[in-house]
Amino acid sequence: APADLQEILLFSVTLARSAGELILQGSEAILSSGNVDEKKNSVDLVTEYDVRVEELVKGELSKKYPAFKFIGEESYAAGARPPLTDEPTFCVDPIDGTTNFVHGFPLVCISLGLIYKKSPVLGVIYNPFLDQLYTGVKGQGAYLTRRKDATPVKLPLAKPKPLESLSKALLGIEWGSDRCAALINKKGESFKRLAGNPNEGVQGGRMAHSLRSLGSAALNYAMVAQGGLDLYWEIGCWPWDICAGTIIAQEAGCLVAGSRTSPLDNNITDTVLTGRKYIVIRAIGDSQTEKGVDAQKR
Ligand code: IPD
Repeated sequence: APADLQEILLFSVTLARSAGELILQGSEAILSSGNVDEKKNSVDLVTEYDVRVEELVKGELSKKYPAFKFIGEESYAAGARPPLTDEPTFCVDPIDGTTNFVHGFPLVCISLGLIYKKSPVLGVIYNPFLDQLYTGVKGQGAYLTRRKDATPVKLPLAKPKPLESLSKALLGIEWGSDRCAALINKKGESFKRLAGNPNEGVQGGRMAHSLRSLGSAALNYAMVAQGGLDLYWEIGCWPWDICAGTIIAQEAGCLVAGSRTSPLDNNITDTVLTGRKYIVIRAIGDSQTEKGVDAQKR
């Protein structure tokens, strides 16, 4: 593994907390000025703070770890698209939950992951609005620190029970930023199948308890790791959305599945599925998963 992962973790946590301060400042500025760019369409948003936070984080990481590579959402958008190699590579979303950020909905985080030999080995997710810090290091467990001075608590917070069906599950889903008719219709159908009651009137039908959208892929992963969600499913995440979350969820005993063999190449990942327990999903609307993704017990 690259250098000492514990030392990298300490450095990354301090950096994520500094990034968090900038995110909080940005929130005040954005909410009073309304200064937001529309990237691709009116729901794919970026603010000057996405760029500023990424510059801060990239600058500090490259000073401290000059040999490590860097993949970041805003650098990628600006054309920096290094191929993923076996070298240690930081993978960063400076503000995950930009839409929440713009609206003052306090589920926003920085997501900072480290990939080594094409797999995530370290993850830090920090939500400065709630002062919640999630960390995970390969082989060393995942933790939640709820306040700056609090003691980290091992994840998941409660022992997970096996879940035989959807009918006892709380599911995380997202609308994503691609709202073209073909995709949104399929997603909508899936959401209906997951939340609707196929056996009307029959007690304990097969619909999920409910669906939730936190608005941040990283925080969805963290919530599954914590145990608040049983499963998170999304189509169309980017590596920086899921890198830190993947190792945190895995270290909390979750299963992470993707429709690509490496969910971390420098491309969008078609489908991600993170589940805390055994579950079979058959209600997902893209052709790949329509056949059914059978998540297995680890
Ligand atoms: C997005 C958020 C959103 C998810 C998208 C992500 P961003 O990241 O995590 O919840 O649905 O797939 O791209 O744009 O806020 O950094």
